[in-house]
Amino acid sequence: MRVLLTGGSGFIGSHVAVALAAAGHEPLIVDDLSNSRGGVVERIRELARMPIPALVADVRDEASVSEFLAAHGRVDAVVHLAGLKAVGESVADPVRYYDVNLSSTLAVLRLMSAHGIDAMVFSSSATVYGSAGTMPLAEDGAVGAGIANPYGRTKYMIEEILRDVCAAEPSFRCTALRYFNPVGAHPSGLLGEDPLGVPNNLMPVVAKVAGGILDSVSIFGTDYPTRDGTGERDYVHVQDLARGHVRALEELAPGFDAVNLGTGEPASVLDVIRAYGDASGREIPYRLNARRPGDLAVAFADVEKAARELGWTAELTLADACRDDWRWRQATAD
Ligand code: NAD
Ligand code: WQD
Repeated sequence: MRVLLTGGSGFIGSHVAVALAAAGHEPLIVDDLSNSRGGVVERIRELARMPIPALVADVRDEASVSEFLAAHGRVDAVVHLAGLKAVGESVADPVRYYDVNLSSTLAVLRLMSAHGIDAMVFSSSATVYGSAGTMPLAEDGAVGAGIANPYGRTKYMIEEILRDVCAAEPSFRCTALRYFNPVGAHPSGLLGEDPLGVPNNLMPVVAKVAGGILDSVSIFGTDYPTRDGTGERDYVHVQDLARGHVRALEELAPGFDAVNLGTGEPASVLDVIRAYGDASGREIPYRLNARRPGDLAVAFADVEKAARELGWTAELTLADACRDDWRWRQATAD
């Protein structure tokens, strides 16, 4: 299958590109490098051992992307990962988030229509379940109510747009993959999470403390009704996620579908700090702080549908993710 990856130079897209190549598919990449670096594509090519066509462009520049598609022959499917993802930034600048995330998706849909591509895997998020869900979160549960921020609402709105497109075009095949908390890095140490801004997700913060770049981890909330009082999440290794995309592409069927990608196993903030401490051999100081507004106590996936429909189950552990993340950060340290 020849597959266009929008946002293919990013954290998840770069791992998906390598996984696709390993499974015998041909990735093509469009990325505007707004949150990734140009050198990533060379590393993807090295790991994939194939010449992967790549265009540096905003997907909303439909003329450039159209020319790129026309130059590379028939494309069978799109994995649409491009978008903005910083939750705090989306609260501060909602117009930019709605603009980029929604208009990028509409541009990709128009491009697909113009080039006769009717298959898409979309990067959705567990955030679409909002605050109403019961654990574990299952795909047939309610979505949309109580989403805590504009970023999360863009994911919900895009899922609704994709449902409408599938209703209008019976041949259209689309799966929204609802990622839980992606972590880890490629075991080679060549790919990992490398955002251009200040990190605010837990593992990048913990990693910076382990590396001595930050003094301590601020734990947001110690009075949750959880095993140790800190928030629990479902941390899924990016290599497992990447494999999930390959399976989703291979199993695409007409209509809209949503599938969770998670481990089904919740881990607390203290579990993550301990696991990263073990992986890095470094002490990780932390401070106990107030809850972060909008955070849930617990969120983890019902993984039954992914197993049944995609034959996919997460195989790697939190310890694997910490080891690979640490290796990547050591390899990229200046
Ligand atoms: P990332 O920022 O590393 O990757 C996104 C890539 O898209 C970046 O390389 C960026 O340069 C590119 N991009 C952004 N806007 C673009 C545009 N208009 N045109 C072309 N390229 C553009 O993020 P990621 O963690 O790899 O996430 C990939 C997708 O998965 C995103 O849609 C994100 O919302 C979603 N997602 C991520 C997480 C997470 O925690 N990482 C969780 C759930 C869902
Ligand atoms: C995890 C846990 C925090 C930072 C977010 C988005 C979600 C998805 C994944 C894209 C929570 C705690 C965190 C810190 C802490 N992204 N924490 N100190 O909030 O589950 O999900 O990223 O789609 O949409 O909302 O992930 O990594 O920010 O937090 O104590 O410095 O770590 O309270 O319990 P979250 P996270």
